[in-house]
Order: sequence, then structure tokens, then C-alpha cells
Amino acid sequence: VHTPRVFSGIQPSGGLTLGNYLGAIKRFVEMQENGVESIYCMVDLHAITTWQDPTKLRHATRELCAGYIAAGLDPEKSILFNQSQVSAHAELGWVFNCVARMGWLNRMTQFKDKAGKNREKVSVGLFSYPTLMAADILVYHATHVPVGEDQKQHVELTRDIAAKFNHDYGVDFFPITEPVIEGAATRVMSLRDGSKKMSKSDPSDMSRINMTDDADTIAKKIRKAKTDPDGLPSEAEGLDGRPEAKNLVSIYAALSEQSVDQVLSEVGGKQFSEFKPMLSELAVEKLAPISAEMERLMQAPDEIDAILRKGADKARVIADPILQKTLEIVGM
Ligand code: ADP
Ligand code: NA
Repeated sequence: VHTPRVFSGIQPSGGLTLGNYLGAIKRFVEMQENGVESIYCMVDLHAITTWQDPTKLRHATRELCAGYIAAGLDPEKSILFNQSQVSAHAELGWVFNCVARMGWLNRMTQFKDKAGKNREKVSVGLFSYPTLMAADILVYHATHVPVGEDQKQHVELTRDIAAKFNHDYGVDFFPITEPVIEGAATRVMSLRDGSKKMSKSDPSDMSRINMTDDADTIAKKIRKAKTDPDGLPSEAEGLDGRPEAKNLVSIYAALSEQSVDQVLSEVGGKQFSEFKPMLSELAVEKLAPISAEMERLMQAPDEIDAILRKGADKARVIADPILQKTLEIVGM
């Protein structure tokens, strides 16, 4: 039996979005407040699976750390660190490259989406990304991983890798980790296209709300967000087949910590022209204090670096013995 331990990470491949906040960071803070030992990573090794400008990568890593702290993660309660500073991730990732099967990785929908028709030209790292993610999680024997819906398949692969390793070596060493995908906004969609998730790597800035957007920008993006001509229904079923409408109501629900039905019991019957300003006001109310605090923290990059260094020291204390034991099991 493994002691409960939470791990999750975000790529410093651009600025944080409302999707990252609602699907991930807000949930990380809840888990920290529940008192479970929690480890939250800036996964820079994952970020370079697509090319990153080195100066921007360094900046985005600090900004991500600032975002974690501004949203409520406390480096005294949770371990916050940078993936590349704890070499056990990459080392265990190699072992898992030798456990995972090509066929398993070939089924990963994120790879198919990101590679598109360009399969021969993308990096090998983009393909093997999920084995490194399995190492991120399992090098801490993490039992729970709070993530958005888009990461469910990767956590399932992590479970398959743990089970195959345990079976192949006749051990009961790695836990079978549970994904934790909860809340009203586990998959926040693009504001321009209800079939695509909101992402920091989407080329269109109008498709997403960034954590650092100012009030006017947030209002403009929500005002221009795609919807259909109908008004708001009074029950969740009325949003079926209306992805853009459902997305805006789900964002409202998640920001106000209500269910979609609770929100609709209040706003059902309104037009989107009336609802959108309510949503903007709520988004600004929730995000403005976080972005102000991020800006304040970014004025002292040395302090952020010191927090990340201390976090990496704490992370290594857990990860290094698990890596050593793994290598011993493998015969090294
Ligand atoms: P991005 O796609 O913005 O680059 P990452 O791959 O770094 O995000 O994901 C970091 C975390 O944020 C993951 O837990 C992921 O599931 C979550 N996440 C990313 N985008 C969304 C979204 N649109 N809705 C909900 N959660 C999301
Ligand atoms: Na992603």
C-alpha cells in the first residue's frame, strides 16, 4: 500500500491560460489545502519537445512558478521545482522507454493532434513524451494526479507502464496512479472554436484567456467569443450539441464554484449578450489578483530561482532513492 502523494506538472511553453488555471492549478491548490503531500513541477524537459527560444523558456519557467504561488501554492507546504533540476526524471524516463511499447505510444491522441500530417518531422521527444510523464509521476510513487481531461490517456499509459514494470520484474514496486479529473471545467475549449481545447500553444491569442491578460483584454475576448444564436437554457441538457455555449457556462461555473445546473438556474433565459459581461466581470474578479501577484513576484527572479532550487533539493530526497531501487530491480 502506497501513502497518498500528489504529483502534477505544467509545461513552461508559453504563458498560463484559463484552461491551465481551472483544469490544473486551482485543483492543485485544493489538494494542497486538503493536506496531502503535493509535488508540483514546471516540466521544462517536456516543453522542449517542440522548439523553445532559450531566453523565453527561462522566463516562462519563472513565470509559471510565479503563477503557481500567486494562485495559492505555498512552497512551504508543496514542493515546487523545475523538472530538469532533478535528473532522476530523465533517468527513469529512459527505463520506461524500454518498458512502454511502440503500439501503446502510437495510440496517444495528443501525439496525433500535435504531429498532424507532419509525423516524420516532429521530434522523437514529442513521441516519447508520455514515458517521461510516467517517470515524472512514478519517480515519486505518486498515487494521485490532478489533471485536465486532455491528460487522461497519458495517466492511463502511466498505469500500464507501472503494471508492466511490476509484472516483468516480479515486484509490487510502482503504484497504479489515479487521475483526478474533477470540477465544472476539466476541458476548457478555445473561445474561437468549440471543438479545440484552449491551449497556450494555440497560434491565436483570441482563442484563450491568459492569466496575465488585463481586464479590457479579457472583456474583449469574451465579447468576441463564438456562440450560437440561442439564449441560455435553464438546465444543462439544453447545452448539448452547443459546445461554445456550454464552454462559457462551464467557465462561469468553475470560476464561481458552482455546478452548471446551479448557474443555469440563475441565468437561464438570458441572452449571451447579457451573460458575457457577467462572465467577464467574474473572470476579472478572480484573475486580476493572481496576475497582480504574478507581476510582483516576477520583479524578484532571484527569489523565484531560490524557491525552485530549494524545491528541487526536497524533490531529490524522494526521487533519488526510488530511482536507485528501480535500477537495482532492473539489475544495475
Ligand atoms: P497547454 O495545453 O496549455 O500547453 P499543458 O500541456 O502544459 O497545457 O497542461 C498543463 C495542465 O493543464 C494539464 O493538467 C492539462 O490537463 C491542463 N489543461 C491544459 N489545457 C486545459 C484546458 N483547456 N482545460 C482544462 N485543463 C487544461
Ligand atoms: Na497539453
